[in-house]
Amino acid sequence: MGAEHSATDDGIAPAVGDGELVVVSNRQPYTHSYERTDGERSITVNRPAGGLTAGLDPVMQQTDGTWIAWGDGEADADVTDDDGTVRMPPESEAYTLKRLWLTDEEVEGYYYGYSNRVLWPLCHGGTMKTEYVERYWQRYQQVNETFADAVIETAGENSLIWFQDYHFTLAPRQVREAVPDSAFLTHFWHITWPGWDTFRACPQHEQLLEGLLGNDLLGFHVERYCENFLDCVDEALDDAFIDPEGGRVNYEGHTTVVRPFPMGIDAQSIRECSEEAGAEFWDDFRATHDIDAATSVVVGVDRLDYTKGIVERLEALERLWEVEPDYREAVTYVQKASESRSLIPDYQDLQTEVRETIERINDRFGTADWQPVVYINEFIPQQELCGLYRHSDVMLVSAVRDGMNLVAKEYVAAQVDDDGVLVLSDQAGAHEELGEQALTINPYDTDAFADAIETALTMDTEERAERMVALREQVESHDLYAWMASVFDAVEEVRAKRADDD
Ligand code: UDP
Ligand code: G6P
Repeated sequence: MGAEHSATDDGIAPAVGDGELVVVSNRQPYTHSYERTDGERSITVNRPAGGLTAGLDPVMQQTDGTWIAWGDGEADADVTDDDGTVRMPPESEAYTLKRLWLTDEEVEGYYYGYSNRVLWPLCHGGTMKTEYVERYWQRYQQVNETFADAVIETAGENSLIWFQDYHFTLAPRQVREAVPDSAFLTHFWHITWPGWDTFRACPQHEQLLEGLLGNDLLGFHVERYCENFLDCVDEALDDAFIDPEGGRVNYEGHTTVVRPFPMGIDAQSIRECSEEAGAEFWDDFRATHDIDAATSVVVGVDRLDYTKGIVERLEALERLWEVEPDYREAVTYVQKASESRSLIPDYQDLQTEVRETIERINDRFGTADWQPVVYINEFIPQQELCGLYRHSDVMLVSAVRDGMNLVAKEYVAAQVDDDGVLVLSDQAGAHEELGEQALTINPYDTDAFADAIETALTMDTEERAERMVALREQVESHDLYAWMASVFDAVEEVRAKRADDD
């Protein structure tokens, strides 16, 4: 048991070599804010919710490079040097965080606009939700240039530059043209890549592909997304030569290798956290949220995003309580949620819909002694989250489309007693690895989803343990450090091949 690669491995050193690691993401791993108590103002540090930052922070802590990201916290500038840098994390100062400051117009057009009203819905197959506003595209280009300039300024001869996600499709080409050949550019795409039939709807599809092909190595979570990407290149760019088996594209004299790297989680740290949250924690948690000790607990943990299938999940639970009254007063659903991208109308609508659906269900079935759905939307510390995972009888992951879904893996890693059941949508990337031992659902098939919840609740101890042991083995042996090692091994391999070819 336990990860083959641990946080103390030196497996990434050869890939980084004598050059610095430069990570580029939109979201920063730590935000500084002001806290006001009794008229006194102090500065606090928070960690935003989301799989990208949760996964990359431990990587950076091991390498001491520079992480370039948007400084969006109100107190961010108060703790940085004149060049926007601050050592992070606060307790161990293991790497440099370089914050870039964006104007309100840039944030509106680049982040709330093109990134999250065009690329996010487009990549998740929601073409009807995309909004092609010229201003968004202009600002997206401008901010990509700003980030590219910062990378060019930071990068040295042999730097390994690692772009993250859909916020930076254009920057790689700009950087490739400006940094020495010895610098290596890789990009990890944390969300799904759609099929050509969807992607071709985007008026800027050529520019997006050309930008990404500035990378030397491009990673996706699963093979299917790689295939979709290569298909899109094949259809959109006449001058591109594609080797689908080798996962290589040659475009305008430059080769990009495309590979799947299913992202893992820091399973050991989740397990340790979970071990500390014993029976006493759970008694307190139940008491705080007024959950009777005799009821089973089903859990869901999500950023409030329309891709997560939260309403579909609530409807499946409602169906269960409707057709199987025995589960009333016997099963409580805990929804842990965190607000996300709240200035976007689709996200506001989702927040309202989630609240209204919960209220409707609670009004419909709730009794003096029992509230069917407990909604927690304030921040809870990692220890508490791990305890919630550990002691819940069933976890529901019902994304309607999701690149990976790290929450599913966190739930598994927290199952130190091997007694939980994972119900998992076949629309999440995590299903590729966990689908065999989890109970598979289609989030839109409400009746079958309700049946799966019932199957999970009634599963005997032996079967629970059998499935969970296999799931844990998968999650632990393919953890964050294994992911990191596979990305950096590929960097090394592609770099060596390039040196041979020169
Ligand atoms: N998360 C959290 N609190 C919440 C919801 C999510 O801390 O209320 C964390 C969760 O533990 C996980 C990450 O945010 O580490 C979500 O990653 P995932 O890949 O599941 O989805 P994403 O939000 O990145 O789309
Ligand atoms: C997903 C995206 C990340 C993003 C995270 C949180 O995981 O792939 O790029 O950071 O959601 O969303 P936010 O918009 O708050 O950064």
